[in-house]
Amino acid sequence: MSTPLLPDLNELKSHLPDLKLAADEETLTHYGRDWTRFAEPAPSGVVFPADTAEVVALVKMAAERGWALVPSGGRTGLSGGAVAARGELVVSLDRMNRIGELDPVDRLVPVGAGLVTEALQNFAREQGLLYPVDFASKGSSQIGGNIATNAGGVKVLRYGNTRQWVAGLTVVTGTGEVLELNRGLVKNATGVDLRHLMVGSEGVLGIITEALIQLAEPPPAQAVMVLGVPDMPTVMRLFDQARHSLELSAFEFFSDLALNHVLSHGGSAPMETRSPFYALLEFDCEGDDGEAQALTLFEQALEAGLCTDGVLSQSDSQAQALWGLRENISERIAPHTPYKNDISVRISRVPELLSRLDEVVNQRYPDFEVVWYGHIGDGNLHLNILKPAELAVDEFQAACEAVNGDVFAIVEDLGGSVSAEHGVGLLKQPYLHHSRSAAEIELLRGLKALFDPHGILNPGKML
Ligand code: MLT
Ligand code: ZN
Repeated sequence: MSTPLLPDLNELKSHLPDLKLAADEETLTHYGRDWTRFAEPAPSGVVFPADTAEVVALVKMAAERGWALVPSGGRTGLSGGAVAARGELVVSLDRMNRIGELDPVDRLVPVGAGLVTEALQNFAREQGLLYPVDFASKGSSQIGGNIATNAGGVKVLRYGNTRQWVAGLTVVTGTGEVLELNRGLVKNATGVDLRHLMVGSEGVLGIITEALIQLAEPPPAQAVMVLGVPDMPTVMRLFDQARHSLELSAFEFFSDLALNHVLSHGGSAPMETRSPFYALLEFDCEGDDGEAQALTLFEQALEAGLCTDGVLSQSDSQAQALWGLRENISERIAPHTPYKNDISVRISRVPELLSRLDEVVNQRYPDFEVVWYGHIGDGNLHLNILKPAELAVDEFQAACEAVNGDVFAIVEDLGGSVSAEHGVGLLKQPYLHHSRSAAEIELLRGLKALFDPHGILNPGKML
């Protein structure tokens, strides 16, 4: 595979005059980066295809000339997967945001890859259904990007990752071939399911242009409870107790430091007593019986020392406000250029992960503020190191990277993942070998060569 070349915008314009193209400074900066801030955006141009046919024409032209393409969704990624820092051509799916006709029998809806996640959630709700993949960046992230990273979020505990809701895909490979994968079938035992190769492929195997999305039955009435917890291992003991008593759809945790960042922008603490950590539980809660069950859990947990205080939502707006304490953390700490570790292990191994990580963090990050939160019910922790204001970004990055060896050695030892849900992109690429064997990585390279023989799709990402 040869090194991709810089696109020639004049040639592009003369060959594909109808393809919308922009190359002004503002557009280049906006579309050249995602939510990470560790690389400067520097694309040559940004194209906005209107349909799959335009993507095909572009890819064929790029393949002939060896031009590097970076597929771009809502650019809410946290691993640099949609960053264009080396003169690539960004392929924005923004204009391909249609919602097709819902098939009420199959509960399937065809959508364009550029559809914003929240628009799909709203559409499903209007039909009396549910698109259950949910996370804080739903207002900007796009379905194509979610699929390309197999996005997780806050409801994985009940509904799984994005993969579970992808019933079909239209993908343009690196040679401009169009693949229509699975076509909405529930059962399809015709060999390897290429659809699933594309889910989580971060744009290195093909450009996802359309998806057939499965919608779900909405849950019954739900409530949210936030409990103060004395330490991280106790959060897991509480989880064990809670999942036996309640029908959980989310079990999240965050530290008091994280809460401070959220409250620094207004609002009040969820309860009078502050605790080092908090657990947020969302669960089915119908009528007085549902509430009584939640209160019983609270009392038992209090008695067993698993929590110190708690609050139970009494309305949907209170539930939303409690969710805000967890979901707003990422945005509130963003101005501190957080160095993000997004790690996971099997839930049985979380207690050991926590105690071993705690030791490393205390020893190796004594001068940095460390903010913990995450989807602990899925075994997924977000360990965020905040940049001190006076430290330059590259020095800060180097200091954090110096600790990665220790952190990822623990993750590897426990059979975990160096990227639970944010993807590999640019930032986690050097650490892939902690979670994937040399043989696996070699096979992934082989797949890349097969789907993208000219090496033009998102070069340098993941592999
Ligand atoms: C979250 O769980 O809030 C998101 O994954 C974003 C983040 O980790 O900052
Ligand atoms: Zn997360």
